[in-house]
Amino acid sequence: MPRHEKIVILTGAGLSAESGLATFRDSGGIWAQYDYRDVATPDGFQRNPNLVYEFYNMRRREAAKAVPNAAHAALARLQRDYPGDVLLVTQNIDDLLEQAGAQNLIHMHGEMTKMLCTHCDARLPWAEDLSADLACPECELIGGMRPAVVWFGEVPYEMARIATALGACDLFIAIGTSGNVYPAASFVAAALEAGAHTVELNLEPSDTAGYFAERLHGPATEIVPAYIDRLLSE
Ligand code: APR
Repeated sequence: MPRHEKIVILTGAGLSAESGLATFRDSGGIWAQYDYRDVATPDGFQRNPNLVYEFYNMRRREAAKAVPNAAHAALARLQRDYPGDVLLVTQNIDDLLEQAGAQNLIHMHGEMTKMLCTHCDARLPWAEDLSADLACPECELIGGMRPAVVWFGEVPYEMARIATALGACDLFIAIGTSGNVYPAASFVAAALEAGAHTVELNLEPSDTAGYFAERLHGPATEIVPAYIDRLLSE
């Protein structure tokens, strides 16, 4: 009988930082270089689509060069070897967890490796640059394709499934997230409500650190494998 039957793990940009992908709110992070209203809102896309295309094209190219790190690998190992249920909910739009072999995974903020057609709602894998002069492979209309990611003011994906999992979990772990953005930042409160043990694995205390029963701080590639080794040996 495993110590925990249902584990929910929330991950953020800090999980991919040691794979070379920038975080958002660390000094010099993405939101220090760009105004999120210009590149991560529906209004911004309406106002200047080319700036938004270029923002995601640059991040997609960078992500294509990145490889999973020891923390991604440890999470995939936990899902493979732990006798209980392990659901990964990531805010990240890279595919490093998939590359590491993770399966039971929700991209609540979408994926930059997929495109969404605003004309026909098609959602297709897309590894290349996106631009306004491309025709949708499904409806063949031009100019409607956007990254299949969730912008500020839009509803994150699979929230009902996430809420159900949080309501039934007995262990909730947050990895590499600053606890700045809702609804993800509220997940720890829902887990506490369900009576779960709560653990924060982060470089430094997040804005929601006070909610967690257990807090381990350090680089994800060190503290995540160590914590998962502990879980697997219990
Ligand atoms: N190991 C562990 N944690 C790290 C590391 C590391 N190597 N490097 C940074 N961190 C931590 C930082 O201390 C910070 O708490 O990761 C967190 C990153 O926080 P943010 O940059 O705010 O990223 P995130 O929490 O994922 O942002 C949430 O905001 O802008 C939106 O859609 C975007 O999904 C994103 C959401």
